[in-house]
Amino acid sequence: MGIICPAVREEPSLHPLRSATPRRYLMCPPEHFGVTYTINPWMDPAKPVDVALAVAQWEDLRDRYRSLGHTVEELVPRHGLPDMVFAANGATVVDGRVLGARFAHREREAEAAVHLEWFRAHGFPSVREPVHINEGEGDFAVTASYLLAGRGFRASPLSHGEAQEFFGRPVLGLDLVDPRYYHLDTALAVLDDTTDEIMYYPPAFSPGSREVLRRLFPDALTAGDEDAAAFGLNGVSDGLHVLLPQAATGLFEPLRDRGFEPVGIDLSELLKGGGSVKCCTQELR
Ligand code: ARG
Repeated sequence: MGIICPAVREEPSLHPLRSATPRRYLMCPPEHFGVTYTINPWMDPAKPVDVALAVAQWEDLRDRYRSLGHTVEELVPRHGLPDMVFAANGATVVDGRVLGARFAHREREAEAAVHLEWFRAHGFPSVREPVHINEGEGDFAVTASYLLAGRGFRASPLSHGEAQEFFGRPVLGLDLVDPRYYHLDTALAVLDDTTDEIMYYPPAFSPGSREVLRRLFPDALTAGDEDAAAFGLNGVSDGLHVLLPQAATGLFEPLRDRGFEPVGIDLSELLKGGGSVKCCTQELR
């Protein structure tokens, strides 16, 4: 009979038990990093860049991943490609299938082939050179149910259909409207890829896309202006640890309240190129 013993009845928890799963990341050291052109509002070629500091900050991020038990593969940087450090833009990998990138700006075009070459040399059996413009995980985010796909500044809306067909996952197009948040990963991060848990900055999206996000992710963590401007949404989660810019201080407590362990990272030099933690990190799923 249905006798319920109150002592063992489970209480709904405000602090769900989180667990990290080991990840494999592809990163590219910023040895040739620089701001020599302007393709987003953060880039100012007049501001000097300290390459040695950029390398040290990047190494700290890489070592942090390794100390958390993740695998980090390194892509050899090329001279003349100062944005290569933003490795997230080079491809999107889901279930071992690789959709390469096609960059919107001429200045970054040559990065796409370097990534394709790396995947072919590392035994990925299904590698597609895309027909339509997409900048890898800059505009594609993988949740349990969807491939969230940004558009408006970089990725062509046609790349969404291409990705859906290639991965066999439902693609959800989201319109970006603020040039400071030109890639989806500057305005939205996946916190738990087993349960569709995300955080995002609503003003970066069109009213319709905001409504879509509200409907599909009613429990999402939303960020305010200051944390968004500190690139707080450009974070990487392993299911437990959320690595994000340390300046995004307003996100730490809400993440802890949800049972995550925020890990603050200082990538101030790379911010001059308009990128941070997630931009430097391509996940090899
Ligand atoms: N300077 C680079 C660009 O504008 C930064 C890319 C940042 N990457 C990212 N995944 N949001 O293309």
